[in-house]
Amino acid sequence: MATSYFALIPAAGIGARMKGEQPKQYLQLAGKPMLQHVLDTFAASAAIAHTFVVVSGGDGYIEDLISAAPHLIGRVTALYRGGLTRRESVLNGLHAVREKVNDEDWVLVHDAARPGLTVALIDKLICALREDATGGLLAMPLVDTLKRSGPDLRVDATVPRDRLWTAQTPQMFRYALLRQALENAGDVTDEASAIEAMGLRPQLVEGSQRNFKVTLPQDLLLAELFLKGIA
Ligand code: CTP
Ligand code: MG
Repeated sequence: MATSYFALIPAAGIGARMKGEQPKQYLQLAGKPMLQHVLDTFAASAAIAHTFVVVSGGDGYIEDLISAAPHLIGRVTALYRGGLTRRESVLNGLHAVREKVNDEDWVLVHDAARPGLTVALIDKLICALREDATGGLLAMPLVDTLKRSGPDLRVDATVPRDRLWTAQTPQMFRYALLRQALENAGDVTDEASAIEAMGLRPQLVEGSQRNFKVTLPQDLLLAELFLKGIA
C-alpha cells in the first residue's frame, strides 16, 4: 500500500505569552486568522492527503473558520481533543485518527503558531525524508554567538555554536513510531525529542526564518511582513 502524508496541527494552546483577547492562533494576520494561514498551506499542498487540527474541547472558533473557507471543507477535520500540554494535544490527536491513518503513513506535526510555512518548505521536508527510516524536522542552524548566563545576567560562558540548531515544525515521523514515542515520552516540547528518547536520530532539514513561532505581541508585526511578502 502506498504511504500517505497527513498533517496534524496542535492548536489547543491559550497563547498566554501573547496576552491577546483570543487564543493567538485565531488572531488576524494579513487578512485571516493565524491558523488559517497554516490550514490553507496544507490544503494547497498536493502531497498532503488530509489535515487534522486539534483544538480544545470548548473551542468556539474553528467551526466558523472552516465553514467560511469553502476550499478547506473536506480537506480539514477538527478534533476537539486538546490536552494540557502540546504533547498531550498531539497524542490525543494521533489516537483520534487511529482508524484513518496506517501505521506506516507519515504524519507532519506543525504548530498553529507558525503561519509562515510554505508549500515549498513542506515539499522540501517530504523530499528529504520520504525514504528515511526515522523521519525528521525543519530546523535552523544558529547564526548568533551563544552565551550562557548566571542568575545575575552576567556571562558564565560562550557556548560554541557549531552544529547547534533551533527546531521548527513540521516534524515528520511515521504514525506508529510517533505514537509510541509520545506515549513513552515525558514532558517533551517537540516530537523529535520523543523520537530521540527511543535512541533514534531524526534528520535535520534546513527551514526558513519566515517559519518562526509567533509567541510574543511584538512577533505579530514581523509575521505580517513575511505573510504580506514585504520581509
Ligand atoms: N498547543 C496545544 N495544546 C496545548 C499547548 C499548546 O495544542 N496544551 C499548541 C499551540 O496551540 C501552538 C503549539 O502547540 O500551536 C505551540 O505552542 P505555543 O507556541 O507554546 O502556544 P501556546 O501554548 O498557546 O502559547 P503560550 O505557551 O504562550 O501559552
Ligand atoms: Mg505553550
